Amino acid sequence: MNTWIEQLEQVQTEAETALAGAQNTPATEQWHADYLGRKGKLTALLRGLGQLSPSERPLVGRQANQVKELLEGALAARQAAIAAEELQRSLAAEGIDVTLPGRRPLLGKLHPTHQAMREMVDILKQMGFQVFDSPEVESDEYNFGLLNFPPDHPAREMQDTFFTTTPNLILRTHTSPGQIHAMRRYAPEPIRVILPGKCFRNEDVTARSEMMFYQIEGLAVGRKITFSDLKGTLLNFANQMYGEGRQIRFRKSYFPFTEPSVEVDVDCILCGGAGCRLCKQTGWLEILGAGMVHPVVLQNGGYDPALFSGFAFGMGIERQAMLKRGIDDIRLFYSNDTRFLARV
Ligand code: DAH
Repeated sequence: MNTWIEQLEQVQTEAETALAGAQNTPATEQWHADYLGRKGKLTALLRGLGQLSPSERPLVGRQANQVKELLEGALAARQAAIAAEELQRSLAAEGIDVTLPGRRPLLGKLHPTHQAMREMVDILKQMGFQVFDSPEVESDEYNFGLLNFPPDHPAREMQDTFFTTTPNLILRTHTSPGQIHAMRRYAPEPIRVILPGKCFRNEDVTARSEMMFYQIEGLAVGRKITFSDLKGTLLNFANQMYGEGRQIRFRKSYFPFTEPSVEVDVDCILCGGAGCRLCKQTGWLEILGAGMVHPVVLQNGGYDPALFSGFAFGMGIERQAMLKRGIDDIRLFYSNDTRFLARV
């Protein structure tokens, strides 16, 4: 009998030492398996009690049950202590330092294209132009035919135009088809409209050209509109957009929908005309195309060219933003680099 009691005491001591060394939940689980589980040391002893004589069994049995209860209690206490420690540790690790300064949320702002577009629209509105919306998807007829492009004009060819899967429907390559929409909406009333919006061209993307970009188109039609009205309008625009006292110059050019046609330059905003890198030593920066509305286009819009005349102009919005803010790569506008977008 004594050897049984001794063995019980031995297992108890060993178990208590081992439990004190268990530092985490998995270790306590292992300890439970080692002593109290189905194959545990105490369980093995308890199982052997059957070999004792009936007179010895009650005493040893009571002692064994006491050890078992004691160890179960010790385990529960150890587990509670470990859980409390683990909680403390994770609270310390994930603790919030309320004395740290807050993180400022980034402020959103208008995209640089829209900043420039609003500025240009505001200037032109003051001169009596009103914004007219026109579609980004056009028929071949509106984008080219009604604007007096000859049927074999190179701009119609595959390399310039994005086609849709619907025959004859294309993405507009410029805002000029809006001229026809506006004229057909208002003829024979005089009009002064601007048409800002997206254009698409199937071009290689480079620092100077994107396949999607914005233009703003202007159109004035009335009974006595002259080329000097066009000059005055554009000079006023250039002075408000690029600074008081700016000069503009007209160079003869060709567009199918205007006659005469011109390209318009402003004296270099960086060097004032002396010649620099921005103006490539010419002293001038090209800003837009313009001209007097071609009689055929007036007619297509519903105006009698014998009674009405008009001027039109069109310019790239990103180009104006680039000149004004010294941006040298148009790809920056639509590559979603927040370092660029936050700067301009
Ligand atoms: N549509 C022309 C282009 O995309 C720009 C243009 C030139 C528009 C002359 C006009 C104009 O209204 O009169 O290149």
